[in-house]
Amino acid sequence: MKVAVAAGKGGVGKTTIACGIASVLAAQGQRVLLIDLDPQSNAAWGLGADPTQPGTAELLLGERPVPIALSDNLSVLPGGPGLKGHEVMRLDPEALADAVATFDHTAIIFDCPPGLDHLERFGLVAAEMALIVVDAHPFAIQGAARVIETLSARRQKNRPGAQRWSLVMSRVDLRRTLDKDLDAALNAMFPEIDRLLIRQDVALALATTERTPVMQTTSHTSRGVADLQGVVGWLQNG
Ligand SMILES: Nc1ncnc2c1ncn2[C@@H]1O[C@H](COP(=O)(O)OP(=O)(O)OP(=O)(O)O)[C@@H](O)[C@H]1O
Ligand SMILES: [Mg+2]
Repeated sequence: MKVAVAAGKGGVGKTTIACGIASVLAAQGQRVLLIDLDPQSNAAWGLGADPTQPGTAELLLGERPVPIALSDNLSVLPGGPGLKGHEVMRLDPEALADAVATFDHTAIIFDCPPGLDHLERFGLVAAEMALIVVDAHPFAIQGAARVIETLSARRQKNRPGAQRWSLVMSRVDLRRTLDKDLDAALNAMFPEIDRLLIRQDVALALATTERTPVMQTTSHTSRGVADLQGVVGWLQNG
């Protein structure tokens, strides 16, 4: 499977979810590659890899960087400032789809950056499925609407790219009124799109600060991990 994690807004939990589902899939025995599309390389850093190693920018520019192995079946290609370069900006939106075609991993996860539409598009176009991450902030809902519009337009024109997508409500705390209302708001705006839930969970935040894939931490039974497993279930079974 190839999965893009995107949002259209910063700081909603994309990287946490991308790293989390990569770790859950690896623990299930999939051979997983996480492709970090963020110039800040948060995913590579958060999983414990050296974020300054050659990675996604080099891959896009036609080199063959070796993914950094984090465990037997989890590797990562770091992002990095090279992604902001002019050469990368000028590439065809299908450049990443073409570049990953030779990888033989059974799951490839693209962690998209905030506010850099051309980098996000590489991921959306290379993916078969997209997780659109959203929180209760109005800008997040607008950002999700924009991603959905891009995906729907591409699918309508039979262009390559994600064919299925769901909304992932992120960092949800059901004691907060805003969070309780989010589900209803999304149902009203996007009634035909599945909604998944990742609750606020310190274990998920800690895994990144400890720079360890969450399934390799002592918190691999946390509620956040249970929610990640739910998202993986949607990816596998719809
Ligand atoms: N489910 C969660 N529970 C608790 N904290 C979370 C959760 N998801 C994300 N966070 C925290 O929220 C912050 C932002 O998360 P993250 O970096 O994953 O977002 P992002 O969408 O990738 O951000 P950016 O747009 O900068 O790439 C981090 O400090 C992270 O630890
Ligand atoms: Mg991120």
